[in-house]
Amino acid sequence: METRAFSPELQAKINELKTLREPTKLGSIQFDSKLILAPMAGICTPPFRLLMEDLGAGGTVSELISATGILFENKRTHEMLKVDEREKNIGIQLFGEDAESLGKACVVAARQNPKFLDLNMGCPVRKVVQKGGGSALMKEIESLAPVFRAMKEAVDIPVSIKIRMGWDADGINADKIEYIAREEGIEWVAIHGRTRAQQYTGLANWDYIEEVSQNSKLPIIGNGDLHQPFQVQERLEKTTCDGLMIARGCLRNPFIFLESLPKERMTKSLFKGKDYLEIINRLYDYTVQTYDSERTRLVQIRKLIVWFAAGFPNAARFRDQMFKSRELDDTMKIAEDYFLSLQDRDKNINYNEVFMNSGHG
Ligand SMILES: Cc1cc2nc3c(=O)[nH]c(=O)nc-3n(C[C@H](O)[C@H](O)[C@H](O)COP(=O)(O)O)c2cc1C
Repeated sequence: METRAFSPELQAKINELKTLREPTKLGSIQFDSKLILAPMAGICTPPFRLLMEDLGAGGTVSELISATGILFENKRTHEMLKVDEREKNIGIQLFGEDAESLGKACVVAARQNPKFLDLNMGCPVRKVVQKGGGSALMKEIESLAPVFRAMKEAVDIPVSIKIRMGWDADGINADKIEYIAREEGIEWVAIHGRTRAQQYTGLANWDYIEEVSQNSKLPIIGNGDLHQPFQVQERLEKTTCDGLMIARGCLRNPFIFLESLPKERMTKSLFKGKDYLEIINRLYDYTVQTYDSERTRLVQIRKLIVWFAAGFPNAARFRDQMFKSRELDDTMKIAEDYFLSLQDRDKNINYNEVFMNSGHG
């Protein structure tokens, strides 16, 4: 199946906004924009990653993928490794706990030709942490150097890490980890400005992220709570970070990588219902090209379309209709009718509402 082109009007709008992007160099990789799609489990699959690149993300990261699952030849894990050849600046994120298996998993992951490999050191989920992976790696930093070394030695492409501020308020150590990472040849560090103990509560501590960034020799990517274009704009203006990562923000506003670029503060979204329909159709094409199973296609695309509708009139009723549909064709028809009916209506997302306060990093 071919990928449908965007209408000339939408493509022109995207292209114009893309000219406002500022490239950034992280280690040996040049990214077209400082704004990068953060890894999200169950979400950052090839179709979504391709769409976010189309819509301005300077780079993308896969969902976290188990090093053990890779080495045990787990079928589902190997499917998760797949990279679409059209993906430009994609990193595959691995999680695991020991140097040997992470090193070996890097070799397998690198066969997909990603631009870089990333180590998950922020996942707060008990199942991962109990085994010593994710954010548990931040607890005993003496054992980190061999892990970084094994990953670096296994592959020729850059290796990066994504961490939190520390394990808890008494164990803030992102700065110390940056130092070890630098010594071992890690190319950059992404920091989610919360501790593991905080999970997703409270606010990301940007003062701390900026402090680490100022004192760091490695490039730093700041992450956490950049959910609205104006917040991203403000951060872009004052940050000392080399890049910013956006996770949840692009689910309710898939145009955030573009809408955050103009210097003036916008009060209204630049994109309307029919633009949303076009990007949903593009996502559909990518989804059908990626997955053979009708069920997987439906499950993957439906939740994204429902998040994209957040803040538009009657979004709750639309969501109910979508989740009642059992066939992909019906789902797409419901989406088409809904987004076309919006015409020029504006999106008004309620950012005070708690939105997805759990995840793997
Ligand atoms: C649903 C969900 C899944 C996530 N999965 C991952 C993951 O696989 N790896 C990772 O490093 N971080 C993961 N995260 C964390 C995000 O990358 C990001 O650090 C966090 O959500 C804070 O950024 P935000 O405020 O822009 O969402 C996940 C977050 C969410 C909400």
